[in-house]
Amino acid sequence: MKTDTPVTIRRSDYAPPAFLVDTVELDFSLDPAATTVRARLALRRNPEAAPDAPLRLDGEGLALLEARLDGAALPPERLEFGADGSLTIQDPPEAGLLETVVRIAPEKNTALSGLYTSGGNFYTQCEAEGFRRITFFPDRPDVMSRYTVTITADRALCPVMLSNGNPDGSGAAEGDRHWVRWVDPHPKPSYLFALVAGDLVNVHDQFTTRSGRLVSLNIWVRRGDEDRCGHAMDSLKRSMTWDEEVFGLEYDLDVFNIAAVSDFNMGAMENKGLNVFNTKYVLASPESATDGDWQGIETVIAHEYFHNWTGNRVTCRDWFQLSLKEGLTVFRDQEFSADMGSRAVKRIRDVRGLRAAQFPEDAGPMAHPVRPDSYIEIDNFYTPTVYQKGAEVVRLIHTRIGPAAFRKGMDLYIARNDNQAVTIEDFVAALQDASGVDLSAFMGWYDQAGTPELAAADRYDPATRRYTLTLRQRMPPTPGQPRKHPLPIPVAMGLLGPDGAELPTRLEGENAVQAGTRTLLLDQAEQSFTFEEVPAPPVPSLLRGFSAPVRLKGVPRDRLRFLAVHDTDPFVRWESGQQYAASVMLEMVAAQQRGEAPGFDEALAEAVSNTLAAAEADPAFAAEALLLPGEGFLADQMEVADPVAIHRVRRHLRAEIGRRCGAALRQAYGALADTGPYRIDGRSIGRRALRNACLAYLAAAGDAALAKAQFDSAGNMTDSLAALSLLADTDGEAREGALAAFHARWRGDDLVLDKWFSIQAMAARPDVIQAVRALYAHPDFDLRNPNRARSLIGAFASGNPAQFHDASGEGYRFLADAVIALDLINGSMAARLVGPLGQWRRQSAERGALMRRELQRVLDTPNLSKGTFEKASKALA
Ligand code: PHE
Ligand code: ZN
Repeated sequence: MKTDTPVTIRRSDYAPPAFLVDTVELDFSLDPAATTVRARLALRRNPEAAPDAPLRLDGEGLALLEARLDGAALPPERLEFGADGSLTIQDPPEAGLLETVVRIAPEKNTALSGLYTSGGNFYTQCEAEGFRRITFFPDRPDVMSRYTVTITADRALCPVMLSNGNPDGSGAAEGDRHWVRWVDPHPKPSYLFALVAGDLVNVHDQFTTRSGRLVSLNIWVRRGDEDRCGHAMDSLKRSMTWDEEVFGLEYDLDVFNIAAVSDFNMGAMENKGLNVFNTKYVLASPESATDGDWQGIETVIAHEYFHNWTGNRVTCRDWFQLSLKEGLTVFRDQEFSADMGSRAVKRIRDVRGLRAAQFPEDAGPMAHPVRPDSYIEIDNFYTPTVYQKGAEVVRLIHTRIGPAAFRKGMDLYIARNDNQAVTIEDFVAALQDASGVDLSAFMGWYDQAGTPELAAADRYDPATRRYTLTLRQRMPPTPGQPRKHPLPIPVAMGLLGPDGAELPTRLEGENAVQAGTRTLLLDQAEQSFTFEEVPAPPVPSLLRGFSAPVRLKGVPRDRLRFLAVHDTDPFVRWESGQQYAASVMLEMVAAQQRGEAPGFDEALAEAVSNTLAAAEADPAFAAEALLLPGEGFLADQMEVADPVAIHRVRRHLRAEIGRRCGAALRQAYGALADTGPYRIDGRSIGRRALRNACLAYLAAAGDAALAKAQFDSAGNMTDSLAALSLLADTDGEAREGALAAFHARWRGDDLVLDKWFSIQAMAARPDVIQAVRALYAHPDFDLRNPNRARSLIGAFASGNPAQFHDASGEGYRFLADAVIALDLINGSMAARLVGPLGQWRRQSAERGALMRRELQRVLDTPNLSKGTFEKASKALA
């Protein structure tokens, strides 16, 4: 929707819906240019709403053809159309059957919200507010209805026609048309409605639930993609089993359909009984998908399936409660993936992701609480804060009350709230009531934006053998929240003796010692914890498993080195190595800024050698440990970021390590070569990751031939892409040849072609901006396809900080140009991509001025979408 004065929606303004809709009958007559939608809504006034509240139905871009109330046509004077497209019925009855017929044009829908076409097939996307682009309706999650959907279409164009729930009949219609009916027995909000129709084929399987329900499982794809659905289907069956075993939750319909579509704004959507997926999270073959893609599919399939209970059966009262379903469901998918593979490595990856995306968001102009207080465009709040930090907050509570009480609390949450639209308070109350632990202070995590900083000081008294650990928390202000109060922070910890052995601990006042990790609860600004009978000055290991989403600051380097080698907790071992490297690298950045030659810290080379020597035990962990902290992570720790200096330092360091550890790296690289057939299991994936980490160091040290050899002989996408991304950073023939060969081989595969675009957009080369501009004009580039737009524009602006922040400002100009062009096509995608320009406060004054200029240019564009307006205006505020 375009508007000049976008309205801010506030959480404090919540009012219950004026009317409820008990049942909905929808009849679709599908046609790409002119689809008609007949809707029959059984309406009644909500006893909980104001008695005189108007009957207002949301609508957007709908051409109303008919409107009847209880069978009688509504005269025009009883219909009032709002500027936003809504429809208000004057003198509404207390209850009645409202029937409307509207016409829409799916093939013209480039926003991919509502009903749209992709490759000639029909798909819907209704979350958050897309249903109003299909029919007039109170399009808000606290209106839950039972749906009956009849779809009619041309038999040849749409042999397959799907909607939510269970199938309920089909037959011939006029001419070459046919119809099918779907009935969903479960009441649901409109955002979970879905329709998919077209020339699709299915991969079929089945699953019997614990209580004996036989469920038909189907993945619907375009002809030719059938043989790439096996992993998605396996992941689905594993998810169904896991949710029964871990949460006691069973599937509740006779069919579970998944449809894959290549034009999709997000990853996937949990529509009841009919999930719609971005093809990226369904289709995979060993030749075309990387190990990362493989893991992404498993996670996203699980995530959407888990929504069936956390999101669908129990849904959100309003969109401010979004994390009620998203934070909880991410927590559940993280636990699932941890159980399917290595828990430690999964945790490391999740924390890496949180820091790369959520920490900067919390430190930028769009910082918002996990439960926001206001928004202009809800699409802008599908954020790392709502998802990933939301999952961390669920994890905090899980840590605080323990797994058994958490499970009891989840049972209670579902029993109490089944088939209702509820709030985050309802969730926390269930966990509190089931555990008997007062969780009221944890609500602060939902209400306060920003990342707390945690610092520790300690003192050992040899005379009394007492050891006192003092923890402090501090939270910097965020937009609209100048003052913060302390939050409850569970600090999982242990003490290591001078020889590196874990010490049993006993806190002052306790009777018995405790072995291993224990959790301290810091809930004041500062608190001291005294341990007794500590034999020698210990080294504290804090925040084991990353027990809270905070920044632990000021751990001295000697302790980091010690912990990186000795700690019993794999997360802290990894983390200490990363923090050590980060501290060295930030010092190198400072030296570089002073114009000094960068030094080299021998300890880093030593750490790489040690990691390689011990890698056999857990190659995936070793691969994580070998990776140097990312450029974004380093920038996020600087008052004023210097992306170019950071990039130079990281590159220099990689080359130095590659040279100094060349022999060990080469040896490991050779030893890790895949001999047997290609396999996708945790260990094989770990070995490939480790081998490619070695290759990256060797390439940084100048060995492009090895990368070229790997590219030429690679038998799987992981190895091929790892080599290609290294070659893309180099000069000369090998680079051009490899890129051309890759394009020639994969030009027919959109998902792989996306990778080809991304690799070039993220290359470390001085001419990248020109290359990106040229790729933008490439015949294979298509701004209307979200995956392709992300693969070039998003990859460049978020994945190539040194080039994006080029002092010329050309990177900023490119992004603004692309955002302005895209906003006309798909406002919600444009709003997503504009983000990096908002980080100007963390850049130098010169860069900041250039970034602001581009933001202003975006903001001055006529008819800007609400979403892009919100992002750009908040960034400039
Ligand atoms: N609800 C989806 C998920 O997280 C995400 C989504 C939001 C998809 C909005 C499309 C549109 O699982
Ligand atoms: Zn979700």
